[in-house]
Amino acid sequence: MLDFNAEKHYRFSRLLVEQGWTFRRETVNDRDAADRLVSDSIGPSAVGPDQEGIVAVAPNGRIGGVIRYQALYFPKGVRVFLRAVAVVGEYRRQGIATVLINLFGTVLRAHGNPVAIGNCEQRMRLLYEDCGYRVLPPGMPFVDPVLGVLYCSDQKFDCWFANV
Ligand SMILES: CC(C)(COP(=O)(O)OP(=O)(O)OC[C@H]1O[C@@H](n2cnc3c(N)ncnc32)[C@H](O)[C@@H]1OP(=O)(O)O)[C@@H](O)C(=O)NCCC(=O)NCCS
Repeated sequence: MLDFNAEKHYRFSRLLVEQGWTFRRETVNDRDAADRLVSDSIGPSAVGPDQEGIVAVAPNGRIGGVIRYQALYFPKGVRVFLRAVAVVGEYRRQGIATVLINLFGTVLRAHGNPVAIGNCEQRMRLLYEDCGYRVLPPGMPFVDPVLGVLYCSDQKFDCWFANV
């Protein structure tokens, strides 16, 4: 984990919790609503099996945000892929994604802080940097001792980010 913006995380999480938002590990009961949110926000291909998640639950009980990740085990080590972050349109810019990404960080720490990587749009750079990730310029491959040279295959989400 690189430097992150503690003030922003604290400000967002305090306001959300005061408003009645809760954050929890995704359960089977959350799965359909979370799948729909990911599919509607990013696309059906972002929904996949063997992913775990954390959900943000609005004061009215609705799933308002989700982060999905997947640990993959390679001969030389483990890598955690951040597969999707999605927030319902009307709840955006209140810090929900920031809090979800930082809670994902606590999951990583509980597992010995493995390398975590993902793809994002360049305009979301600050979102990930404030959460302690390094964001590479669009199109630049991510070079990793475990995975080798990874190119971004997606036209839209064309930046790699990583916690190393
Ligand atoms: C991307 C997404 C998850 C952000 O969720 P969010 O809860 O609105 O994000 P936050 O409120 O935590 O934003 C934190 C910071 O990220 C950056 N950010 C968030 N949305 C942004 C946008 N549309 N454009 C530029 N920067 C943005 C800002 O720096 C923001 O801080 P600020 O509001 O103080 O300026 C949400 O817009 C979404 O679901 N989009 C569609 C799905 C998607 O594209 N997911 C993949 C993201 S790479």
